[in-house]
Amino acid sequence: MIKSIQELEEIRKKALEELEFRKQQGEGIRIVVGMATCGIAAGARPVMLKFVEEIQKRNLKNVTVVQTGCIGLCKYEPIVEVYEPNKEKVTYVKMTPEKVSKVVAEHIVNGKPVYEYTIGYEENKEANK
Ligand code: FES
Repeated sequence: MIKSIQELEEIRKKALEELEFRKQQGEGIRIVVGMATCGIAAGARPVMLKFVEEIQKRNLKNVTVVQTGCIGLCKYEPIVEVYEPNKEKVTYVKMTPEKVSKVVAEHIVNGKPVYEYTIGYEENKEANK
């Protein structure tokens, strides 16, 4: 099918926006909150809100908070993944709004992940039961 000039222009614009979006994301810290049904049931909504609130309060410009669907680890919900450029992803589990404050203060602001809240720590705990 032959597309009209307008259509092509639309497509080009979308592609550019997409690129711009990815560029922005690549530069900052990305906080991804799992918001599938089980995440929400486990309390992901207040966790997400708390992140947004803390980030606004501290006026952190290079941080974005986004939501995603199922992360595939129901029993660890609410789950939050933190992506920093050139660093390994950190996965926080069983998050609560209280934990969010600490994660923002120590990890997002000072660059020190809060190990006791990560999936690695949880798994170790379970393995040593
Ligand atoms: S349904 Fe629970 S993590 Fe996907």
